[in-house]
Amino acid sequence: MKIASVILAAGQGTRMRSALPKVLHPLLGRPMIHYALDTAVHVAGSRPVVVVGYGAQAIRQAVGDSALFAVQEPQLGTGHAVLQAEPLLRGTADLVLVTYADMPLLTEATLTGLVEAQQSNQGPVTMLSGFSHEPRGFGRVVRNAQGQVQAVVEEAQATPEQLTIRELNVGVYCFAAEWLWAALTRIPLSPKGEYYLTDLVGLAVADGLPVQALAAQDAGETIGINTRVHLAEAEALLRQRINISWMLAGVTMVDPARTYIEPGVKIGQDTVVWPDTYLQGATTVGEGCAIGPNTIVRSTQIGNGCTILASVLEGAVVENEVEIGPFCHLRTGAHLADGVHMGNFGEVKNSYLGPGVKMGHVSYLGDATLGPDVNVGAGTITCNFDGQKKYPTEIGADVFLGSDTMLVAPIKLGEGSRTGAGSVVTKNVPPHTLVVGVPARAIRKMEKT
Ligand code: UD1
Ligand code: CA
Repeated sequence: MKIASVILAAGQGTRMRSALPKVLHPLLGRPMIHYALDTAVHVAGSRPVVVVGYGAQAIRQAVGDSALFAVQEPQLGTGHAVLQAEPLLRGTADLVLVTYADMPLLTEATLTGLVEAQQSNQGPVTMLSGFSHEPRGFGRVVRNAQGQVQAVVEEAQATPEQLTIRELNVGVYCFAAEWLWAALTRIPLSPKGEYYLTDLVGLAVADGLPVQALAAQDAGETIGINTRVHLAEAEALLRQRINISWMLAGVTMVDPARTYIEPGVKIGQDTVVWPDTYLQGATTVGEGCAIGPNTIVRSTQIGNGCTILASVLEGAVVENEVEIGPFCHLRTGAHLADGVHMGNFGEVKNSYLGPGVKMGHVSYLGDATLGPDVNVGAGTITCNFDGQKKYPTEIGADVFLGSDTMLVAPIKLGEGSRTGAGSVVTKNVPPHTLVVGVPARAIRKMEKT
């Protein structure tokens, strides 16, 4: 059976009290709507239609090609919203899955279950329900004495007796497509001047057709985000879900409640993540590493057996058995090869540090290439910027840079050369040569070792 999906995202989200449309508020680093989109794509196997209204332009921009768009203007309720998708979808599918952009925690498993239930349903709709003692303004699922679903009543219209019903309408449905498109035009105007999608339940029952309600197993999945309090709750749950899956995959978390891992991250077995660590973007961490505490790693590749303590890494590549920290900053284009040691207060930008390079204390390397086993003395700095342009520094294998060396780029230091403490190097240094002073001069050739 072919499945289409519709994601409702036209509402303003007034209770967020924000200039940003609600569905673009980030949840673990990604706009909230992306969660509903990903899930819908996987379950339906087709491009979803997103119904936009408030903030349409910004939402289109954030979503891009991953969806089709239908505009709902003005916003006359959830039934009216789904109707806007009809021109794009009629005749394309047998079933239509409807979800909300502000319900990011619904899982593929739950929605697949909903679609499967509708595939074996004689009637035109299967809805998702949830049981909770905290109704949060959700509609109530009304059943008759035989337990058959009769209607959904909105909280504002519910009788005191109906308000005590604990089975709630999550707001997610799978419909038989042709029945849906026809029925949407039959929805009566509500007392609030809206067309409620929920009225389709009563309409089906009035037609003598059965409506099925499938209960969501996990109440956490059905958190809808209306306020920033809900946003924080959803973020905590999502974080917990991600952390649990990594712990079950063999990652130790010393304090999972203080560990912040975004959905795109990958972590190898036997890695330990210490508290207050943020792994963000397309970051990968290999096996047997120790990351944190107090560390931010953004879109960085880390190999096996690395130790990273109290540092910030962004857009970097770190190979195997590398030690970083405390208090280091790797910026975009930093690449540390196997066995590099980078200690207190180091900064590296757009530079390659060959295998075994040691950079122990308070140094800055920018636009530099270092061969294997270079020793970077305390306080060494590449002077790579003349106020207008950036220039490269090339340092050969086994170079020993004395403490407080200034390397005025563009500059090349030959293999096995040395600089004295406090040297300001302004001219290229031949291999195996010692230079000292300000500006640095060659004072002798050295034996090769
Ligand atoms: C809706 C359901 C309610 C359910 C609840 C669960 C209706 C009438 N009620 O109520 O039974 O328990 O969701 O969260 O459907 N939207 C549009 N266009 C509109 C109105 C809404 O696209 O004209 C979108 C919103 O952006 C949002 C979603 O539909 O993503 C739900 O709208 P909202 O107004 O929050 O519905 P509820 O009152 O929560
Ligand atoms: Ca809502």
